[in-house]
Amino acid sequence: MRRLRQADWSRRLVRETAVGVDDLIWPIFVRDGDGEPESVPSMPGVFRLSVEGCVDAARRARDLGIPVLALFPYTDASKRDEGGSEALNPANLVCTASRAIKAAVPDVGILCDVALDPYTSHGHDGLLVGDRILNDETVDMLCRQAVVQAEAGCDIIGPSDMMDGRVACIRAALDAAGHRDTLIMSYAAKYASAFYGPFRDAVGSGSMLKGDKRTYQMDYGNRDEAIREAAQDIAEGADMIMVKPGMPYLDVVARLAGELGVPTFAYQTSGEYAMIMAAAQNGWLDGDRAMMESLGAFKRAGAAGVLSYFSPKAAEALRRR
Ligand code: PBG
Repeated sequence: MRRLRQADWSRRLVRETAVGVDDLIWPIFVRDGDGEPESVPSMPGVFRLSVEGCVDAARRARDLGIPVLALFPYTDASKRDEGGSEALNPANLVCTASRAIKAAVPDVGILCDVALDPYTSHGHDGLLVGDRILNDETVDMLCRQAVVQAEAGCDIIGPSDMMDGRVACIRAALDAAGHRDTLIMSYAAKYASAFYGPFRDAVGSGSMLKGDKRTYQMDYGNRDEAIREAAQDIAEGADMIMVKPGMPYLDVVARLAGELGVPTFAYQTSGEYAMIMAAAQNGWLDGDRAMMESLGAFKRAGAAGVLSYFSPKAAEALRRR
C-alpha cells in the first residue's frame, strides 16, 4: 500500500476525492449601519458586516470563485417581536443586502435562510403560543418570507425552520408569485444541537432563546428519521438537501447522499468552526490543516458541497496549491 504514498505526485494521482472552490458556500452576517466590521467573539475571524461590507464580501467571493454566499441578519432587539414580523419587511437587512449584492455582483449566488429566529423576541424559528410552536401558522409566514426574499434577488431559499410540510407550501408560493426558477435547498436533516451556540451569538438570538428547539429539530440519536425527513422534502420539491451539523453527522451525510441521489450539502456549523479556531489559537492543532482536512472529509462522505465559515480562507489556500 505504501508504494502509492511515497511522493506528492503519486498521492495526488490516486486521490479519490478532494474539495474544490466550487464546493464552497460562504455564510456571512449582515448588520445595520455603515461602520466597520464587528467581530463575533465566539467566532474568531468572522464579522458582522454592513450592507456595503456584504457587497465587498460578494466581490471577494467572485474573485475567489466561491459560487454562493449565505446571508444571515443580526436584527436589533428593537425590531424583534413575538410574531417575527420583520421577516416580511421587504426592506429588512437580508433583503437590502440581497438587492445590493445582485446589483453589484450579479454572478454570485445568494442563499437566504427561511425561519423566524432572527426576528422573534423569543428566538424560536416559529410562532410561539404558550410553550408550543405552531406548525401551519408558521408555514404561512415562511411562505411569505420566501417570496419577499425571492423578490429581493435571493437565488436559493433555505428553509431551516424544520416545520412539517413547509417545502411544498414554499414551492407553491414561489411559483404563484412568478419565482419558478428560485431554488430550494432544504435543511432536511437539522438536529437540535449544541453546535449552533456561536451562530446564535452572531445573530443576536442566543440570549433571547426561551427553552430549546427540540420539539422541531431532530433528535441526535436518529438516522432513519433523516431519510424520512429528506425524502419528504424531495417529494415536496426540494432541489437540494442539507445535513446540519456537519462533522459529527458525516454518517447521515453519507447515507442521504448515497441513498437519495440529490445534491446533498453539509453545514459545518458555527460550533465546529469555533472548536477548530479555539484549538488553533491555543497552539493545540494546526488550524489550516484541520480546516482543509475537515472540508475534505465532507467530500469523502459524498457531500456535493459545504457551507463553511472557512470558505474564503479555504478558497485562498486552494488557490495557492
Ligand atoms: C436558524 C439557523 C441556525 C443556524 C442556521 N440557521 C440556528 C438554529 O437553528 O438555532 C445555525 C448555523 C450555525 O451554527 O453555524 N434557524
